[in-house]
Amino acid sequence: MAIIKRKKKQSDMYHNSIRKIIEKEKPILGVDIGSSSIKIVAMKKNHVIDKWVCESVPIGMLNQGIIEAKEPLVGIIKDVLKINKIKIKDCALYLSGKDLIIRELTFPKMDDLQIIENIKQEISSVLPQNLDEYKIDYKILDYIKEEDALEGQIRVLAVAAPEKLIYSYMDVLKKAGLKVKYVDVLPNIAGKLCNLIHSERSNDKPNNTCIIDFGAKATEVMIFRDCNYFLHKSISYGGGYLTETISQRSDMDEADAEEFKHNTNFFGGDLDDPIVRAVYDYFDYLIRDFARTIEFYGNRTQESVDVIYVMGGGSLLKGLPGYLESQLGIKVKEIGEVIRTTTKADALGSYASILPQAIGVTLREEWRRER
Ligand SMILES: Nc1ncnc2c1ncn2[C@@H]1O[C@H](COP(=O)(O)OP(=O)(O)OP(=O)(O)O)[C@@H](O)[C@H]1O
Ligand SMILES: [Mg+2]
Repeated sequence: MAIIKRKKKQSDMYHNSIRKIIEKEKPILGVDIGSSSIKIVAMKKNHVIDKWVCESVPIGMLNQGIIEAKEPLVGIIKDVLKINKIKIKDCALYLSGKDLIIRELTFPKMDDLQIIENIKQEISSVLPQNLDEYKIDYKILDYIKEEDALEGQIRVLAVAAPEKLIYSYMDVLKKAGLKVKYVDVLPNIAGKLCNLIHSERSNDKPNNTCIIDFGAKATEVMIFRDCNYFLHKSISYGGGYLTETISQRSDMDEADAEEFKHNTNFFGGDLDDPIVRAVYDYFDYLIRDFARTIEFYGNRTQESVDVIYVMGGGSLLKGLPGYLESQLGIKVKEIGEVIRTTTKADALGSYASILPQAIGVTLREEWRRER
């Protein structure tokens, strides 16, 4: 998917929907501007990390994906690039936020122009603004044909992103000296990460993989069947809310509550302790949502999720993978472990769990087919 790099010639678009995004493997930066921190990675060939940065963003600079303070953000990015001597200018941007509309749609087999028209029709009813204020892109996920059917159907992952949102990020990055080559979204990036995970484990290829991103403002659940996108659920709670709750239940301010959260294993703690209780309540709420999503997948496919990979800063909470595993009855692994191996960057340590989107956005779209 390349939301901003649509070619003009419409007839090329079908072909380009699973197109070569980077013609040559030129060095490129992966950029993830999250609500709590900016992550930038410089990749070498073969998915090996050259340099990486994770810099905190002051509270209020970004709100649900919308940039509230452009100039200070430009300053932060410029500084981290300079301090880390990152010279590469081309970047791939991971775009997120509540204003993105991402849908899986099914159509009869049709050409690119018709697909775009149909996506517009389907999506326009859920857009809060005019359709012409959005960039629309799609990727064909599957071609499904029943044995006795004459024609099959195509399953499409469609994205509508407000132009204003895309241009505000491009503007910030341009002012920081970077050139956005393309933009990608989480379900697609996570699909590429899924390929990365399973390419490392050729003897152990689960068909049904769930990836959960525990961010600061949101928690995202995605399920992939043979590394092909199946579903995505976004929950508007993240680690920031948990920190606030811990702060409210104690006499700690948010900075202290954050530090306390990093250093404490709440799971197995005393349930009469109001903080422990609040942490359990928070995760039990999320886990009920995860379970419903996984059950929905089971009902649709008659298959069950084999493994859950967790990522995002919130996944670093001590004891969380074990608790999830015990509650959901599914093996839970940290994506960071895989990232450290594939990118040959042991030194990443726990940052490997925070960088997957920045790494994933640089991976070539057709990479899976190259295996
Ligand atoms: N060691 C840790 N233990 C527990 N929580 C942690 C730890 N490290 C970071 N976090 C939490 O992770 C969250 C930040 O994660 P991340 O950097 O993935 O979010 P983000 O990408 O900035 O946010 P979003 O994706 O929602 O925009 C914060 O809520 C922070 O409290
Ligand atoms: Mg994030």
